[in-house]
Amino acid sequence: MGHKIGVIGGDGIGPEVIKEGLKVIQAAGVDLDLFEYDLGGTRYLKDETILPDSVLKEWKDLDALYLGAVGTPEVPPGVIERGLLLKMRFELDLYINLRPFVTAGDGDSSGHDFIVIRENTEGTYAGEGGFLRKGTNHEIATQGSVNTRHGVERCIRYAFELANNRKKKHLTLVHKTNVLTFAGDLWERTFESVANEFPDVGTDYNHVDAACIYMVQDPQRYDVIVTDNLFGDILTDLGGAVSGGIGLACSANLNPERSSPSMFEPVHGSAPDIVGTGQANPTAAILSGALMLDFLKETEAAQKIEKACANPATQNGTTTEIGDAIANLV
Ligand code: IPM
Ligand code: MN
Repeated sequence: MGHKIGVIGGDGIGPEVIKEGLKVIQAAGVDLDLFEYDLGGTRYLKDETILPDSVLKEWKDLDALYLGAVGTPEVPPGVIERGLLLKMRFELDLYINLRPFVTAGDGDSSGHDFIVIRENTEGTYAGEGGFLRKGTNHEIATQGSVNTRHGVERCIRYAFELANNRKKKHLTLVHKTNVLTFAGDLWERTFESVANEFPDVGTDYNHVDAACIYMVQDPQRYDVIVTDNLFGDILTDLGGAVSGGIGLACSANLNPERSSPSMFEPVHGSAPDIVGTGQANPTAAILSGALMLDFLKETEAAQKIEKACANPATQNGTTTEIGDAIANLV
């Protein structure tokens, strides 16, 4: 029996890149049982379905979810993002968003030079806030940031465990403690208390604005970064830009306790402008597949795929050609 994988190709280039990802996984000799789900903007336009509770219930029996990209220009912004992606993160309690980056550095034995651990269920993404006197000249909009001790602590502990298993054993907390004094204080105190459990891990702290400069000018200073939901969102796009572009950026939305399936997706979006042109680089989706295999303890296959993706010879040609080149090397 193979691993039970829910596949959501989604919109735009999503299905194209997922097809290559599945091809490569198969070439690596890993047995998957696939369950396809037609979800995303295109499905929403058809019958207004976003993410039914019945589907969420079915997913509880799966080992992982593999997603291409969702979103179409015809659907107003936010509908699919909140109704599908964020709902998945919240309902499946995917509280770790892990995003590894490869720069020109000498790397770690895992091949990832630095990894951003982004808290994935709280912060400004929790949706606290609202309007007062909406539509008037005196309207007020507030948008809160929710930070629970439980949520912050489990995220920070995951990051310490990860750092502890790496060569450099270093963890940087990124926040904005000089301005966000309440949330920042909770993050800082939690970081310091969890650090006591990991005496071998070196630590430091960067404000998020400074971290943006370091990430461009000196990314090698980082090993593992832990940060909140919004800072992590922004910082990982920057991470993608400094490490080979968004065509390579992969991600894992993890429920580390495995009480529900974790979800693996490229960081890039559905890129409707290049659908069907063969211009989409499937590598980010393929690397997300490797993260999925790693999480499913198919370590050897995951490493083979990462190595093949890092070979520059695989990085030319159309979507299918890149997928074939990587599949041929695993
Ligand atoms: C990401 C995306 C999402 C986020 C959007 C689509 C809601 O930008 O996965 O980084 O902000 O988390
Ligand atoms: Mn983002």
